[in-house]
Amino acid sequence: MSHEIHILPSLLAADFTRLGEEIATVESAGTAMLHYDVMDGRFVPNISMGLPILESIRKVTKCWLDVHLMIVEPERYVEAFRAAGADSISVHQEASPHLHRTLSLIQATGAKAGVVLNPATPVHTLDDVLGLADFVLVMSVNPGYGGQKFIPAALHKIRQLDQIRRQRNLNYCIEIDGGVDMSNILEISEAGCDWLVAGSSVFRSESPATAVRDLHTRAASGRQLLA
Ligand code: DX5
Ligand code: ZN
Repeated sequence: MSHEIHILPSLLAADFTRLGEEIATVESAGTAMLHYDVMDGRFVPNISMGLPILESIRKVTKCWLDVHLMIVEPERYVEAFRAAGADSISVHQEASPHLHRTLSLIQATGAKAGVVLNPATPVHTLDDVLGLADFVLVMSVNPGYGGQKFIPAALHKIRQLDQIRRQRNLNYCIEIDGGVDMSNILEISEAGCDWLVAGSSVFRSESPATAVRDLHTRAASGRQLLA
């Protein structure tokens, strides 16, 4: 996959009474990918949104819809989320013991397949699926809630994943999720991250459009430093 830098506004932080408008605003600011969090109250303590809302969103945007499944037995819902409009689907390493099968299942639907690491899960647990994954999502907060503080140890994981893809000549994208804002995005992109999820720092800011543009500009400058 192309390693182009993207800011992915996380819809969890949007105003749900004005979801269509919120999406239009960030789309007009250059957003090409949106992040959609699914929580089941079991894998994580919180419950967020499911299939019907994704279906509605699919009808009003051309953006890539990146669906992050924070649910137990995610393999049971892969086909349904693809049918509802997901372009990429990620499942947690901690929630899917047959990861190889689950990633293959996602790809068989035509979606891109990602695997997610909680802050407590090391990169080496993915050694045997990195050749299959289209992207790896590093959690920089414990999943379940927006608005939490960035855990800096995630930077090391990004660097490790970037180094491994160079060494092994693999092509997966690297994504980060949780607490991303203007204070840390430069360091994150410099570490080798391609897809940067931003919830509160976009939708809870005074101007989500300006926030998306500013985050992108800073992330892009970090990428230049890396190259
Ligand atoms: C957390 C979710 C995130 C969340 C990020 O469990 O996976 O996508 O929306 O929100 P911020 O950017 O506010 O940490
Ligand atoms: Zn997420």
